[in-house]
Amino acid sequence: MGSITLQKVSKVFGEAKVIPSIDLDIKDGEFVVFVGPSGCGKSTLLRLIAGLEDVSGGKIVIDGKDATEKAPSERGLAMVFQSYALYPHMSVRNNIAFPLKMAGMDKAEIDRKVNDAARVLNLGDYLDRKPRQLSGGQRQRVAIGRAIVRQPSAFLFDEPLSNLDAALRVNMRIEISELHQQLKTTMIYVTHDQVEAMTMADKIVVLNRGNIEQVGSPLELYRSPRNLFVAGFIGSPRMNFINGQNAAQLNAHTIGIRPEHVLLSTESGDWKGKVTVAEHLGSDTFLHADVDGIGMVTARSNGDFASRAGDTVYLTPDKTRIHKFNESGLAI
Ligand SMILES: Nc1ncnc2c1ncn2[C@@H]1O[C@H](COP(=O)(O)OP(=O)(O)OP(=O)(O)O)[C@@H](O)[C@H]1O
Ligand SMILES: [Mg+2]
Repeated sequence: MGSITLQKVSKVFGEAKVIPSIDLDIKDGEFVVFVGPSGCGKSTLLRLIAGLEDVSGGKIVIDGKDATEKAPSERGLAMVFQSYALYPHMSVRNNIAFPLKMAGMDKAEIDRKVNDAARVLNLGDYLDRKPRQLSGGQRQRVAIGRAIVRQPSAFLFDEPLSNLDAALRVNMRIEISELHQQLKTTMIYVTHDQVEAMTMADKIVVLNRGNIEQVGSPLELYRSPRNLFVAGFIGSPRMNFINGQNAAQLNAHTIGIRPEHVLLSTESGDWKGKVTVAEHLGSDTFLHADVDGIGMVTARSNGDFASRAGDTVYLTPDKTRIHKFNESGLAI
């Protein structure tokens, strides 16, 4: 079991109201990702759930029981941080076994659990090594192993992959998703990485200044952002926002169109612009163009689209993919 409910949870540090009031329901077995700009309160919210910080107000319910006043060790949750915090002098086996030894579990049981965790995480060959003899990805797996053996009702991850290089991140991202499918344990995962959020989450929670802007599946947020903030935050490169006459024609204060929904042509189209920067990624080309009467617009094309700074291009937004927002920034 691992359902978590936050009811009017708030947190104040001195004068600063970091989390004004949050209500959130996390179902048993869900993979929930918290995203938002730096300083918006993601880690604080995770630490409140873990019990590493006391709430200033509200209630935290875990598996139907009020856990607001419970110590971290009594909440049945396991937290994995960006820095793995392994004991350097202990073998991998002893690092993973540590929480079980502390809990006074008998040796045969500990061995069984450590071996199970090592199998799930492909750490079997490394059990006798010290952390310094492991790669970053292997170390992070050991830290996850130490969390797994406790059989928590939920895992809390705070940017666990941000110290890894790009290739390892991709591997670990897939491994954590597989781990979730295997264990079916609730996971709450904080990340800055768009791709991690979109690919791993059942449900994304977009935070801004300690408030929830929107909760939904990755594609719900991508297709139907509720406001300008979510529209600009989900999706990379970010959505183009256009004000003025073009928006007024569609009875909106602002219209938004994602770069992948703007058709590029060297010959003809709705808007004429001059390329200021062309980014050729191989698989895709991103063009930043200064469009007459509109301003800067980013458009995505396939990797074969040959264009350079200074070229004239024509852009045509896909009318069916235009987002409209009112004066208050709410989607209409
Ligand atoms: N112990 C503390 N005392 C005072 N202020 C704090 C404390 N911990 C966090 N804050 C403040 O609370 C706000 C939220 O911090 P938090 O670490 O939760 O942000 P975050 O979303 O995790 O950011 P990042 O993406 O950079 O990790 C920040 O303004 C931070 O300075
Ligand atoms: Mg943080």
